[in-house]
Amino acid sequence: MDVSKLMFREGLMAGERILVTGGGTGLGREMTEGFLKLGATVYICGRRQNKLDETAQELMALHGGKVVANACDIRDAAAIHAMVDAIWADGGALTGVVNNAAGNFISRTEDLSVNGFNAIADIVMRGTFYVTLDIGKRLIAEKKKASFLSILTTWVWSGSAFVVPSAMSKTAINAMTQSLATEWGRYGLRFNAIAPGLFPTKGMSARLHPGGSGGNSGNAMNPMGRAGEMHELANLAVFLMGPGAEYVNGQTIAIDGAGFQANGGTFYPMLHALGDAEWDQMRNMIKGTNEKDKAERAVG
Ligand code: HXC
Repeated sequence: MDVSKLMFREGLMAGERILVTGGGTGLGREMTEGFLKLGATVYICGRRQNKLDETAQELMALHGGKVVANACDIRDAAAIHAMVDAIWADGGALTGVVNNAAGNFISRTEDLSVNGFNAIADIVMRGTFYVTLDIGKRLIAEKKKASFLSILTTWVWSGSAFVVPSAMSKTAINAMTQSLATEWGRYGLRFNAIAPGLFPTKGMSARLHPGGSGGNSGNAMNPMGRAGEMHELANLAVFLMGPGAEYVNGQTIAIDGAGFQANGGTFYPMLHALGDAEWDQMRNMIKGTNEKDKAERAVG
């Protein structure tokens, strides 16, 4: 990310202690960099310790400060509890949580198995809730304020063909955001969400555009004619997590160049005409990526 394009003053986030789930890669890494650059201590978790360590080292070498890497699969509530114990032991309560970890792949819904559905729902819906619950309970008990930010998509408003488990799960987290913004507002805990449009990352491209399927049509269809730039996302995340925006609560804010208004932001236009052979091919490519990632987790 081009950190010179961050809109905020140095030190804005000094004293903030933020957990970014899925912070080792993709959008999570970019937001981590933004928070770190502005002075926050950032805890990152994900499934691959080696990837997390690499990211923590690289970001600290670039910006100084402190990034702490903890391998944790958010599908496992006990593992979350242990990780959050370690974070608390390292300096006390968190001031912010970014629910960014996600899993997704394109598939015709009729080709999904129950396991396929659960692979996504367990990360996106259940895992996000487990993280929020574990940390929320501690903050309430300790009477500490904090900001929670969930990374969603505009599908929470429209649904989306060919990514139904993701659309369902992210919609559930949108409901969590709105619900807890009111229920836990009295404790000083606020809940917002960002719905990013196209911000290409490696994990996303491999599972949503395998082999470059769809090409750049997403960009061409966007009113701005391009994808998002990472500093744009980081600026919005810092605004929502940093001091000074405490009255913003219960909002889901799209950052998509008005892609949602133009075309609903869904995969339908790109994918509805594909046939069996193309779906088989994409499924094999996605599964190849999943296996490769799994092998890395085994060594990490
Ligand atoms: C059909 C598939 C499949 C595919 C996996 N499965 N890929 N089914 N089509 N392409 C099925 C498997 O066959 C299996 O079911 C089940 O899903 C679990 O597969 P595993 O490989 O064992 O899963 P696991 O190792 O737990 O990995 C989880 C994952 C994987 C979600 C499948 O993709 C992952 O780890 N993703 C993390 C990174 C990621 O997805 N990034 C993109 C995020 S983009 P069976 O029945 O065979 O046992 C995003 C929103 C983007 O979140 C928004 C853009 C606008």
